[in-house]
Amino acid sequence: MSLVIRNARPYGEEPVDLLVEDGVITEIGAGLAGPEGAEVLDGAGQVLLPGFVDLHTHLREPGGEESETIATGSAAAALGGYTAVFAMPNTDPVADSEVVVEHVRRRGEEVGLVDVHPVGAVTVGLEGQKMAELGTMANSRAQVRMFSDDGRCVHDPVIMRRALEYASALDVVIAQHAEDHRLTVGAQAHEGVVASRLGLTGWPATAEETIVARDCALAREAGAALHICHVSSARTIDVLRLAKEQGVRVTAEVTPHHLLLTDARLTSYDPVNKVNPPLRTAADTEAMRTALAEGLIDVVATDHAPHAAQYKDTEWAAARPGMLGLQTALSVVVHTMVEPGLLDWRGVARVMSERPAEIGNLPDHGRPIAVGEPANLTLVDPDGVWTVRGENLASKASNTPYEGMRLPATVTATILRGRITARNGEVA
Ligand code: DOR
Ligand code: ZN
Repeated sequence: MSLVIRNARPYGEEPVDLLVEDGVITEIGAGLAGPEGAEVLDGAGQVLLPGFVDLHTHLREPGGEESETIATGSAAAALGGYTAVFAMPNTDPVADSEVVVEHVRRRGEEVGLVDVHPVGAVTVGLEGQKMAELGTMANSRAQVRMFSDDGRCVHDPVIMRRALEYASALDVVIAQHAEDHRLTVGAQAHEGVVASRLGLTGWPATAEETIVARDCALAREAGAALHICHVSSARTIDVLRLAKEQGVRVTAEVTPHHLLLTDARLTSYDPVNKVNPPLRTAADTEAMRTALAEGLIDVVATDHAPHAAQYKDTEWAAARPGMLGLQTALSVVVHTMVEPGLLDWRGVARVMSERPAEIGNLPDHGRPIAVGEPANLTLVDPDGVWTVRGENLASKASNTPYEGMRLPATVTATILRGRITARNGEVA
């Protein structure tokens, strides 16, 4: 199977032609024709990037198929330019055993639109009481490389310390949803002036900061790789800076929504804006952008969290937290980071593909665009503009906070091991 990509600009640089054969880039040059019958992608005016890797996706299967399935979530991923995603374990049943992680991996392979890597739970049933069998999941056919209780924090320091020791021995990463639950009882919104005015119980930024500080200390002691999910508070950046300076193996992600949206949106009481951690202030989004540009925050991860209308179209307090992210992530990154000059296309490749693939330990993703490398690629129209409509997104749910917004940059094609998985807004 051969594919020729014509006149595409790798990392936004000079246009080239690429020949892809059997899933591998075999030639890069000018005027490449390829063998007879080769599929041709016209890349004129387009930026070619390594396929995106999402370290934080909720695909909801098994058990939450009213909100998303591995098939619909994989379609959203491919259309968003992703070639690999990590599926969070807060499903029903929880992905805390070999059986469930193998099921998720196998279902992802059957769908075949994106590599689905199951994240294993740190504790049995996400209950925070007893450690799950990390070794069994790591050594299973699913080859779990990341563990998290996301949705909840691994709160008990004794369990977190033990999990980090296992992670160090197994060479896997623990991804922490940093939230001191004792500080967020009943929390509904970022603790600040907006929450006070609206009469919503506050989620203080310190609930994030203190867990990150604690876990950096524990990770240093264990020599383990710690990843901080969805950083939302400016003060957390200070903790990360200190830990990184001291050589702690800590990495961090920011979501597109924490780069763009603030708690000013909450005045509508529309639960589409409810998310955990909550939308914070403009000073926080500003700090997220700077930290991402500087590399203190390593990657963008979507925290794609589909919720069926029955869980979202309800009063604020009862609504579930979370928002769609896979199909809008690139556009939000271009809007918040590329347009203001904080990142160039090399930088986009770094935060959406290369660093996530390194953190998630995926040797075939996030690779340089070069001869001999696997053809996991994303073609982007940098001049494209589109209007977000939840009902047109591939996800089963439509809880996008960007409804009606006009956003820059469109994904024109996604290529997984040489096969086109999405093209011009359609799954291939
Ligand atoms: O907003 C969120 N939604 N934050 C989480 O931590 C979990 C996620 C979900 O599963 O819906
Ligand atoms: Zn989370």
